[in-house]
Parts: sequence; C-alpha cells; structure tokens
Amino acid sequence: MKVEAPFFVPFFTEKCPFFDEIKDDLVSIIYDIHMEAPYEIQGSFPSGKHIKDKLTSSDHTFLKIEKEPIIKLRQWILEQLVGAYKHLKIKSDRIVITESWFHYTKKGGYHNYHTHPECPLGGIFYIEDGGSEIGNSWINPIHGYAHRISELWCRTVYESKFEPGQLILFPGFILHSGKPHEGEGNRILCAFNSTPVLHDEQVIRLSGLDGS
Ligand SMILES: [Fe+2]
Repeated sequence: MKVEAPFFVPFFTEKCPFFDEIKDDLVSIIYDIHMEAPYEIQGSFPSGKHIKDKLTSSDHTFLKIEKEPIIKLRQWILEQLVGAYKHLKIKSDRIVITESWFHYTKKGGYHNYHTHPECPLGGIFYIEDGGSEIGNSWINPIHGYAHRISELWCRTVYESKFEPGQLILFPGFILHSGKPHEGEGNRILCAFNSTPVLHDEQVIRLSGLDGS
C-alpha cells in the first residue's frame, strides 16, 4: 500500500560544528547589547511588544553585526538555509535573511504564541540554556489533531529541547512560543526570518543578507 503525506510540515535541525569556538565571544557581544537596555524590547516588532516578558529583544539586524563570531555563524546559517530550501524543492539563486534578533531571557520570561509572516522558513539558534532544557513549542497546524487516538501518530505540539549550538528551521506560519524560562541563569538564543528571492519584483521587507 502506498502512503503519502500531502500535508508535510518540515522541521530541520542541525548542530553547529564550531559552536564551542564562538560561544563565549557571541555571548559577550549579546551581553553588551543587552546592557544598553536590559530586559527591554529594543527592536520594534509592531505587534510583538505585549506578548513578551522578562526578556531583552534586540533590534532586527543582529546577524548583520560585522564581528567574527557573528560573521561565521550567519555564513553557516545561510548554508543551512540553502540546503533546506533545496530540500523543499524551492529553487532560487538567492536566499535572504530578512530580519534577525536575539532574546536574552531571565527566569519566568517567555515569548507567547506568534507566527513569522512572509517567512517560508524561520529559524532559532540556541546559545545558552540558562540552566533549563525548556525550549520552544509549535502547534500542529493540521486541524483534527485534537483526538487522543490520532495523536498517537499526529502530535498536538512539537516541543524542542534547548540544546546550545542547535539550529531549528521551521515554516514561519506555524504558531509557536518560547516557553517560560525556569533556569536561574539567562537563556540566550537568536532567531531570524528568511525567504528565497524568486523574481526581481519580489518585495523584501528589510535589506537582507545573501547566501547562494
Ligand atoms: Fe518566533
């Protein structure tokens, strides 16, 4: 019997092979920006301000910072994106990171449910777990999942474990949250939106970072 999965919802994960080399410098760059306005929303996601608490959210150009660990990290992330879009059979000579930011979260901090508009693949990169393995939660977008037998093969949510150095790519339309942080230290991650550029007239929200 042939089995198909017509409503395939892809998640990609990959461990950064050089994470240990860049982690300390990366955290120190993030810490300096965090200290400019600790636990404030530094960026301006218009609808995002009221669904976050006890965290610093940077502006949306984080991966554009021209410092060694970030240059290295964004290059690696772009390579993963190119591979992921290729896997999805989306052909494009240009993949762009449209926005990127970090979250620096203290105990009890969270980012409530939201989506990433105009973003075929969004991404989260885990940097520091702050003493807790709690990561993110994505809601299954397929209706009918709330059924105890169907749930044996089609889960209600996908929940990630917070593993420093781990990248997760996911479709931006899926509702997801950063669950309340339970560790004593600060939880640090960076996240981003991406899109393939398919034609010259395509509107891209912010000037991006290219990978090919
Ligand atoms: Fe998100």
